[in-house]
Amino acid sequence: MNLVERQRQLDQALLAFRPLWHPQPFRELRPGWCDAWPALHDELMALPEASVIHLNDDGAQALALVARHVPDVAGLAAWMEIPRRVSQALPAHVTHGERWVWEIPGRKRQQIEAFAGVITPGGDTVLDWCGGKGHLGRLLALAWDRPVESLEINPILCVHGRQLAQRAGVAHRFIEADALATTAWPRAGQHAVALHACGDLHRQLIRRGVEAGVSRFDIAPCCYYRGVGETYAAFSDALALTLSRDDARLAVTETVTAAPREARQRDREMAWKLGFDAWRREAGTTAYCNFKPVPEAWMRDSFAGFMARMCVREGVEMMPEAAAAHREQAGWQRRDQVMRLSVVRHAFRRALEVWLVLDLAVHLESRGYRVDVGQFCERALTPRNLLISARRD
Ligand SMILES: C[S@@+](CC[C@H](N)C(=O)[O-])C[C@H]1O[C@@H](n2cnc3c(N)ncnc32)[C@H](O)[C@@H]1O
Repeated sequence: MNLVERQRQLDQALLAFRPLWHPQPFRELRPGWCDAWPALHDELMALPEASVIHLNDDGAQALALVARHVPDVAGLAAWMEIPRRVSQALPAHVTHGERWVWEIPGRKRQQIEAFAGVITPGGDTVLDWCGGKGHLGRLLALAWDRPVESLEINPILCVHGRQLAQRAGVAHRFIEADALATTAWPRAGQHAVALHACGDLHRQLIRRGVEAGVSRFDIAPCCYYRGVGETYAAFSDALALTLSRDDARLAVTETVTAAPREARQRDREMAWKLGFDAWRREAGTTAYCNFKPVPEAWMRDSFAGFMARMCVREGVEMMPEAAAAHREQAGWQRRDQVMRLSVVRHAFRRALEVWLVLDLAVHLESRGYRVDVGQFCERALTPRNLLISARRD
C-alpha cells in the first residue's frame, strides 16, 4: 500500500465532499446538500426506521446509497479499504495456562488477543503505553517471554496490574506516570505498543517515540478528537483538509454496541433535546447553541418537567405546560429527520478515520520507519480496529 498516495487521494476526496459530511443535522435544520441533491434528500426521508438504524451503522452501505446520487463518491471506497492483518496463534503455554486472563471482561480479552496475534516482537523491551491494568502487557510478557513495562497514570490501576503480574509470574513492571508530561518514556530501542490510547495520548507516543528512537510501534488509536483544540493539528503539512474537533469526533461516533434499552434512551434524549431546540428557536434564538450535558435525572422526568428545567437553565421563556404533547411530538419528528439526514454524514465516518490514521502512518514513514496499516480484528469486536505498525529495526 502506498500510504502517501492513498493519503493524497483521500485528502482531495474528503475536501471535495466536505459539504456532505461536515454539516451536523442535529444543529443545522437543513444542510446545504439537501437543495443540491434533492433526490438524495427525498430517498432518505422515505426510508423506514429499520433501514435508517442500519445505514447509520453500516458506513459502506450508506456510502453506496450516497453514491447512487453523487456518483464520484463511489471512488472513495478504494482509498479507505484497509486489509485484515494475518493473525498468528498465540503460544500454547499462554492460551492453555490462561494465567493472564484473570479479571478481563470477555470482549476486552478478545480485543487484546487479536491485537497480540498480529504483532511480532522487536526492540529490546516492550513499553505498553497507557496500559490500564496492563492486560496486554501481561499477555505479551508471557507470549514473548521478554520484559514489559506498562505506563499508566492511574495509581489504582497500577497497583492492580502489579498484583496480576505477580500472580501470573511474569517480568512486568508498572510505571506510574503521565504520558503527556513524562520525558523519560518511551526510550531508544523499545518496542512501543498502545491499544486504544486516546487522542493526544497516541499522538504523544508517536511524537516522543520518534524523537527518542523507538525501534517499533504497534498502535491501535481511538478517540482521535481527545486533546484536539478547535482544529486537529495534523503531523503532515501537505494536507489540504482541516478537521474541526467535531469532525475528528465524527470518526468515532458509532453506536454499534448500544443495547436496545440504551438505544431507546438515546432516541428519547435526542427527541427531547430537539424539542427544546425548536422551542428555543421560536423564542428567538435562531442559531444552534451547544448543549451543556443534561443531567440523567431530567431525562427520567416527564417531557414537560424536562422542558421546565431546560428553560430555567438556558434562560429561555417557559413553555406552557399545555403545549407539552405537541412539542414532544415535534421533537420526535425532528429526531426522525435528523437520523435520516445523518446517514449522509455517517457514510464518510470511516474515510475520516482512515485519513486520521494515515496522518500518523505517513509521519512515521517520513521519519524512516517501514509502516503498515491493517485491521487487527473484525469491526464487531471493536470499531476501533485499525493498527499502525512501524519498524526501524
Ligand atoms: C482506553 S484505556 C486503554 C487501556 C489499555 N490499553 C487497554 O486497552 O485495556 C486508556 C488508558 O489510558 C490511561 N490514561 C489516560 N490519560 C493518561 C495519561 N495522561 N498518562 C498515562 N495514562 C493515561 C487511562 O487511565 C486508561 O487506563
